[in-house]
Amino acid sequence: MSAEVIGSIATLREALARIRRAGGRVGLVPTMGALHAGHARLIEQAVRETDCAVVSIFVNPIQFNDPRDYGQYPRTLVEDAALCGRLGAPIVFAPAGEEMYPRPQQSFVEVQGVTEFLCGQFRPGHFRGVATVVLKLFQIVQPDVAYFGEKDAQQLAVIRRMVSDLNVPLRIVEVATVREHDGLALSSRNRLLSGEERRLAPALYQVLRQAQDRIAAGACDAAAVRREAVAALDERRIRVEYLEIVDPESMQPLERIDAPVRVAAAIWLGVTRLIDNLLCTPPAFEP
Ligand code: PAF
Repeated sequence: MSAEVIGSIATLREALARIRRAGGRVGLVPTMGALHAGHARLIEQAVRETDCAVVSIFVNPIQFNDPRDYGQYPRTLVEDAALCGRLGAPIVFAPAGEEMYPRPQQSFVEVQGVTEFLCGQFRPGHFRGVATVVLKLFQIVQPDVAYFGEKDAQQLAVIRRMVSDLNVPLRIVEVATVREHDGLALSSRNRLLSGEERRLAPALYQVLRQAQDRIAAGACDAAAVRREAVAALDERRIRVEYLEIVDPESMQPLERIDAPVRVAAAIWLGVTRLIDNLLCTPPAFEP
């Protein structure tokens, strides 16, 4: 059975108030739709751990800095609601733009520091849009737990910081990246790749794995690991937007690798931008 699709904030609040009155715990999986197996993993966990898993589907205009990217973002609400139903999530919250932004937004959430590098450097305003819409969703749904994917590691760090700084009363759960058989991280953008681009795309994961192996073997000069990884992508003629070795919490670039780090990258294949990252642990930290 398909999940119930609710577009109105008032109707959603009434439905969730009934759940809470009965002592139920609410889980939220915020998405922009075009759901794939990566989202399914988040939804399954929310269904297992809470009494009512709400999946929000909203392609948030204020987090896109390129109108073409916003325009071409895939929208598949009917299939998405059917998948949520099959996975056991009873409610899809899919508001129209006017429901979320009935008048021009004048209040925004700006998380500093953690947004400075990586995607934050190349997509001005992106994390301001993400943090703002996520806080709005938290206010609307008031979940006990919210689920986010490790693939968007910087987004997750931004949301964790916002929740901590603004005392938002909920728990954030990180869910591991789901990959294709060849290592490509699942993403709604993968469906925009041509055949040739799809063939090249797993190189991103391969290069991150090589960096992970180098770090596990004791490489501690971040610049050297980075140089090697960028060269491996250059060799395949893949356009690298960034590839950085950062502290997993602050997302600040590091010079020395003497604790677990995140190696994060964004590449372009044609007009499609792909991101991925791996947590890498130096030998002294292996369990
Ligand atoms: O990761 C996403 O799909 C979006 O950035 C999110 C968290 C749903 C906010 O629009």
